[in-house]
Amino acid sequence: MQVLVTGGAGYIGSHTVLSLLQSQYDVVVLDNLSNSSVESIKRVEHITGKSVTFIEGDVCDKAKLRQVFSDYTIESVIHFAALKAVGESAQIPLSYYQTNVHGSVCLLEVMQENKVNNFIFSSSATVYGEENQVPYVETMKLGTPSSPYGATKVMVERILADVALANAKFRGVSLRYFNPIGAHESGMIGEDPKGIPNNLLPYVAQVAVGKRDKLSIFGDDYPTQDGSCERDYLHVMDLAQGHVAALDWLNCHGDFTGVEAFNLGTGNGVSVFAIVNTFEQATDQRIPFEVSPRRAGDLAAFWANATKANQALNWQAKRSLQQMMIDTWRWQSNNPNGYLEQ
Ligand code: NAD
Ligand code: UD1
Repeated sequence: MQVLVTGGAGYIGSHTVLSLLQSQYDVVVLDNLSNSSVESIKRVEHITGKSVTFIEGDVCDKAKLRQVFSDYTIESVIHFAALKAVGESAQIPLSYYQTNVHGSVCLLEVMQENKVNNFIFSSSATVYGEENQVPYVETMKLGTPSSPYGATKVMVERILADVALANAKFRGVSLRYFNPIGAHESGMIGEDPKGIPNNLLPYVAQVAVGKRDKLSIFGDDYPTQDGSCERDYLHVMDLAQGHVAALDWLNCHGDFTGVEAFNLGTGNGVSVFAIVNTFEQATDQRIPFEVSPRRAGDLAAFWANATKANQALNWQAKRSLQQMMIDTWRWQSNNPNGYLEQ
């Protein structure tokens, strides 16, 4: 059984490909390498001792997609490929709608042509928007995200609902990730952002390794326990295993049709100050920081109610916050320039 993983060379994709291989799935990756390196795939092959079929290509290229579906026996698709920088999405929104929405439509069309109905989508906690109260639970209505990036995730979730209404055989899963951090315990694969990191942990790790002087903490006057924002951070390997759990669930529930959403998070909110403290304690590194003004679009605090994934998928985020920090640091200190060093 072959699984097509779009965006499989990226941060979450590469960890998921590793988990799929270790669970005996046969993986075909399609990635245009716009935000990744094929080195991640080579390292996944090295760690697992298994091979991956890698195809360089764009999810908006339907001819390429058709070729992939004709060359391989694809039974399921895990769709990571997307642009994901929230700030950038406000500068070049059309590129975000093109890649994230149009790319998903192209993929779904070619799946339909080939009668492939199993689809797992990378959604985000951002789909709950500003309207919903924490903890977020899947029964809540989709909200209004503060960025074009977030809007693309809401749109694709709506598209999936319509596809399921039109196609009685469609079997879709939206996995709503909270804040994935960390790296595989080998220290060989991890998050390798291009340019200045937008997200907290890559920035902290680059300060620790001496690439940046100090961290800016965006706001200490939020209505939270210590005034900084709270998020639900989960280990990327737990998240990767959530995809295997979702695929196993689809495979074990042959009678399921429609679309189901699952939150993938720990269920705990952790502040920015707590992240800095835990990183320092776990790694023995010092993180100089300053408090800066709030970042536009940030919500004060959100975390998951992860009961549904726990009960239905038998999945739980197991790795501790300390483990997330140790693994982030192992990856960053072994690879100060990410995959570039090869
Ligand atoms: P990433 O940038 O590391 O991975 C995305 C991959 O998709 C990259 O390898 C990139 O080269 C590829 N890609 C981009 N456009 C493509 C295209 N047009 N055709 C083919 N490949 C293309 O990002 P990630 O953090 O691994 O995120 C993976 C998915 O998870 C994305 O859909 C993202 O929106 C979603 N997500 C991420 C987070 C997070 O915190 N990282 C949170 C919620 C949701
Ligand atoms: C952001 C996106 C979200 C996306 C997620 C994963 C916004 C508003 N939200 O989530 O849509 O799904 O990334 O890609 O951008 N922080 C600092 N200093 C830094 C960086 C971050 O203090 O240098 C703080 C932020 O204010 C936030 C927390 O750290 O409170 C986490 O930030 P980040 O890692 O960017 O994730 P989110 O904002 O939760």
